[in-house]
Amino acid sequence: MEPVLDGTVALITGASSGIGAATASALAGQGAAVAVAARRADRLDEVAAGIRDRGGKALVIEADITDEKQATGAVERTISEYGRLDTLVNNAGLMLLGPAVGAPLSEWQRMVELNVLGLLYCAHAALPHLISAAQDSPRQVADMVNLSSVAGRVARNGSGVYNLTKHGVGAFSESLRQELASRHVRVSLVEPGATATELVTHNRREVIENLRSQLGQQRMTADDIADAIAYIITRPAHVAVNEMLIRPTEQER
Ligand SMILES: NC(=O)c1ccc[n+]([C@@H]2O[C@H](COP(=O)([O-])OP(=O)(O)OC[C@H]3O[C@@H](n4cnc5c(N)ncnc54)[C@H](OP(=O)(O)O)[C@@H]3O)[C@@H](O)[C@H]2O)c1
Repeated sequence: MEPVLDGTVALITGASSGIGAATASALAGQGAAVAVAARRADRLDEVAAGIRDRGGKALVIEADITDEKQATGAVERTISEYGRLDTLVNNAGLMLLGPAVGAPLSEWQRMVELNVLGLLYCAHAALPHLISAAQDSPRQVADMVNLSSVAGRVARNGSGVYNLTKHGVGAFSESLRQELASRHVRVSLVEPGATATELVTHNRREVIENLRSQLGQQRMTADDIADAIAYIITRPAHVAVNEMLIRPTEQER
């Protein structure tokens, strides 16, 4: 059987580590030519080399997507190299936690700039290409998968601005889903619980120590979430998985 995504092109943001890197590999494994975007070029090179070793196609795009020009440039580069865009995985994200009182304002700014504005810049640049891909591809469908979180469903003490950004991603995704349904661009929201990646490591030391005592031990792997994303994208054209909430079995909240 031919891989389901043969002939399609996917751009994955935040693909230098964690869920983004695993998703790039999973989609390449299904036959998609992938463009991997993030700031750390050396890490992207490793991800791309792994994909090429397994016979896949990968393009490295060094970009800081909080910069509108670089975000738009990532989409344009994908189009100029591969000629089309069937899938955008808006994965790049930052989670900086801790009490609001006394929090460094710069942490709030960085989350809004990446989780909200960065995602919007990429979505805006990609939309015309996704719409034409849905029209002209043999699959007759295109996908935008947006990474939210359990934190996009429920707000908690100590994660207000992360909650704000991920609730925003959910609202934008649902509105866009309705707008694009008739044009066969599926907009899906993925909401992971605790997953072992670098995400937590960007927090201040006292926040990390506090988190360790709050969270249970069980974590999902980045591959678990990549598997879910690949499931969404490989559905037949008449099936749209709108939303997927995935927790480790032992995670209660
Ligand atoms: N891990 C979890 O428990 C969990 C749970 C729920 C939701 N999520 C969501 O899953 C997504 C992926 O996170 P992860 O867990 O895989 O964390 P991660 O390993 O820290 O990955 C984050 C990715 O975003 C990229 N990134 C950061 N700033 C960027 C920028 N300015 N421009 C472009 N790329 C940038 C990073 O690459 P560079 O540093 O190289 O730029 C990295 O590739 C995030 O949206 C996160 O909110 C994660």
